[in-house]
Amino acid sequence: MAQLWKGRFKKELAAQTNDFNSSITFDSRMFEEDIKGSIAHVSMLGACNIIEKSESEKIAEELEKILSDIKSGALNIDMTAEDIHTFIEGELTNRLGKTGKRLHTARSRNDQVALDIRLTLRKEISEIEEKIKELIGVICGKAEDNKSTIMPGYTHLQRAQPITFAHHLMAYAAMLCRDLDRLSDVKKRMNVCPLGCCALAGTTYPIDRNMTAELLEFDSISLNSLDGVSDRDFCIELACALSIIMVHLSRFSEEIIMWCSWEFKFVELDDAFSTGSSIMPQKKNPDIAELVRGKSGRVFGDLTALLTVMKGIALAYNKDMQEDKEAVFDAVDTVKMCLTAFTPMIDTMTVLKENMRNAAAKGFINATDCADYLVGKGLPFRDAYKATGELVALCIDKGLTLETLPLKEYKKICDLFDEGVYEAITLEKCVADRLSAGGPGAESIEVQLAAAREKINKANNG
Ligand code: ARG
Repeated sequence: MAQLWKGRFKKELAAQTNDFNSSITFDSRMFEEDIKGSIAHVSMLGACNIIEKSESEKIAEELEKILSDIKSGALNIDMTAEDIHTFIEGELTNRLGKTGKRLHTARSRNDQVALDIRLTLRKEISEIEEKIKELIGVICGKAEDNKSTIMPGYTHLQRAQPITFAHHLMAYAAMLCRDLDRLSDVKKRMNVCPLGCCALAGTTYPIDRNMTAELLEFDSISLNSLDGVSDRDFCIELACALSIIMVHLSRFSEEIIMWCSWEFKFVELDDAFSTGSSIMPQKKNPDIAELVRGKSGRVFGDLTALLTVMKGIALAYNKDMQEDKEAVFDAVDTVKMCLTAFTPMIDTMTVLKENMRNAAAKGFINATDCADYLVGKGLPFRDAYKATGELVALCIDKGLTLETLPLKEYKKICDLFDEGVYEAITLEKCVADRLSAGGPGAESIEVQLAAAREKINKANNG
């Protein structure tokens, strides 16, 4: 397909140059946005009397037809075209002749591509937001079922203090709620219309930039035309927000992988979301979680690529910027794919409550509560801490736990102990008494569930 810029060239483009230069393999996914942008542009050209109203209408009508032909398969995108903009304009001109050639008045592919990416990513962000909301909903449902499922809470991957599985799960809901906020923030800054910046320096035609911005549902127009065509901050910001989502999914995946192991056995994944081994018949592997963890690397790579592409280019547009799309689209596609596989995996996993509780019953995770019991009897915390440490050492020596250590042994270390200590250190009480806001106590879990649900039920996450 012929290039749009043939006029001053005497020779054909070398085939290798065309392949190297072309972006159609990855920008053709923006065909709908490109056409919608062109329709808004040409409507404005007509309304401002820059081209004849009748011609503007004819072009808009034909662009609609091209759109539906591509969608129906009646028109195939020509993969030898330089980019999607060239293809659509070329097709329009094939169909309308001279009239079609008027579309690109007061426009450049520089503002056109800047517009198309924004329109595309705006839509993609909304899809990702929906998927995250779905995952938060699933997490809340699992948390609801596990409000009284006691498990060990860890620091340094060492059993630390008793919590509930609901509390653990709601930590991920909190992260994902922040991810929603970040996406909404990215979308806000992205929603600025660059159309009318033209190549770099605006135009001499009396265009109405606010009109195109309104037609395309942007909040405002870019105020500096050099910035409008060369800003890709929104791609970087999105890749950053997506990277953080992947950090969260990857941490969650890592825990699922551990919890599935024979060493933990806290959860069992549904057969539909696990795989086997070709040689070891007993294996049931958490491949989905491992892949999500692995794919986080791709998305971080995309972010790094975008930062690196942008960091050294002089204003305004440079062809380096064509590299933006593969990176940001890969990040978008990867996150969507991960969420699509991850959410039903969480939804269908079985929680092995007994195993969680058994793990919580070992490892002296009620030692802090034992010390707090002594504090309740008037001992300063630091002394209570020391006495409890000695009790733990004694238990380890004798192969006992704090629950099974006889009272007389307690009393040898501190005579403030009485029978009440056994009640004070039950795991249920340890969890229930953690009434501080944000803790694992029942009331706090209700607050956390309500906050997460309010977030996902908001129609617009703005
Ligand atoms: N395919 C190009 C890109 O993605 C479109 C813009 C071309 N502009 C230009 N001045 N060559 O960046």
